[in-house]
Amino acid sequence: MDGTQMPAAAAALTARYGAGAEPKAGPWNDTIALLLSHRSTRGFKPDALPDGTLETLVAAAQSAATSSNLQTWSVVAVDDKAVRAELATIAGNQKHIEVCPIFLVFLADVSRNGRLAAEAGTELAGMPYLESFLVASIDAALAAQNAVVAAESLGLLTVYIGALRNDVQRVAGLLNLPPGATPVFGLCVGHAAPGREGEVKPRLPQAAVLHRERYDADDAAHRAAYDPRMADFSARHEMGATTWTQRVIARLGTMKALNGRDKLKDALVALGFPLR
Ligand SMILES: Cc1cc2nc3c(=O)[nH]c(=O)nc-3n(C[C@H](O)[C@H](O)[C@H](O)COP(=O)(O)O)c2cc1C
Repeated sequence: MDGTQMPAAAAALTARYGAGAEPKAGPWNDTIALLLSHRSTRGFKPDALPDGTLETLVAAAQSAATSSNLQTWSVVAVDDKAVRAELATIAGNQKHIEVCPIFLVFLADVSRNGRLAAEAGTELAGMPYLESFLVASIDAALAAQNAVVAAESLGLLTVYIGALRNDVQRVAGLLNLPPGATPVFGLCVGHAAPGREGEVKPRLPQAAVLHRERYDADDAAHRAAYDPRMADFSARHEMGATTWTQRVIARLGTMKALNGRDKLKDALVALGFPLR
C-alpha cells in the first residue's frame, strides 16, 4: 500500500468494522475500496438507466465462476408494472421492487440441462439430488454478486430480495418458469433516491468469522462488541436501537418471521427439484 492509499484504506476499514475493531490493513486498490463501500438501498430513483446497462450487468454475472461450467442459473428481467406489483406483494410489500429501473429475478435453473438431455435422448441420473439445487443456487448467487459489484462500479446501488422465496410457486407462475427453475432471490438496481444512499453497515469483528487452523466457537466477546455498533447503526437509520443479537432472534425466532418459507422444501419439489 502506498502512502496515499493508507488513509482511504483505514477509513474504509473503520466504516466497515467500527473504530477500534479494524483488522490489519494490507494490500489496497480501487476494487477493494469498492467492495468495502457496499451498502444496500431501499430507495430508488425511477429514472431509466443508459441503454445496455442490463446487458453489461448480465455479462458481469456470466463472468462469475460456475460449478463445472454447468451455468445452472438464469435471470428474468421484469419490467411489466402489474407483475412487479405482484412480486412486491409476495415480498411483503417491498415498494422498491416497483420503483427501481431494473428488477432481476435470479433463478436456480437446471431446466436447460433437462432439455439438452431430452434432446440427446438420455436421462441425467445425477440431477434429482439436493446437490443439483445447491450447485444451481450457488451459481445464481455468485452471478448475482458479480452483477452487484458491476452495478456499484457504475455508481448504482442495489438490494437483494430474498423475500421472493415467500412463495416461489407464485413467482414461478408469474414468470412462466419451466420445471427445474426456481427463484433464488430478486435484485433491485438503480440510482439511489436523494438521501437514500445509505451507509456502510458494520459487520462482525473479523475474529468472529476468520478462524485460523481450527474453528473457535468462543465468540461471545466478539458478538458483544458488535451488538452496540449495530444498535447505533439501527438508531441512525430509524430501525430502532436493536442489537444484532435481538435482530437475529427476531428474524429466526418465530415461524411467523419465516413468512411461508417453512414450506419451501415442498414448493421446490413441486417446481421440479426432487431434493433427494
Ligand atoms: C440473499 C439476500 C436476500 C435479501 N433479501 C432482502 C429483502 O428481501 N429485503 C431487503 O430489504 N433486504 C434484503 N437483503 C439485504 C440485506 O438485508 C442486507 O444485505 C444486509 O442487511 C446487509 O446490509 P448491506 O447490504 O447494506 O451491507 C437481502 C440480502 C441478501 C444477500
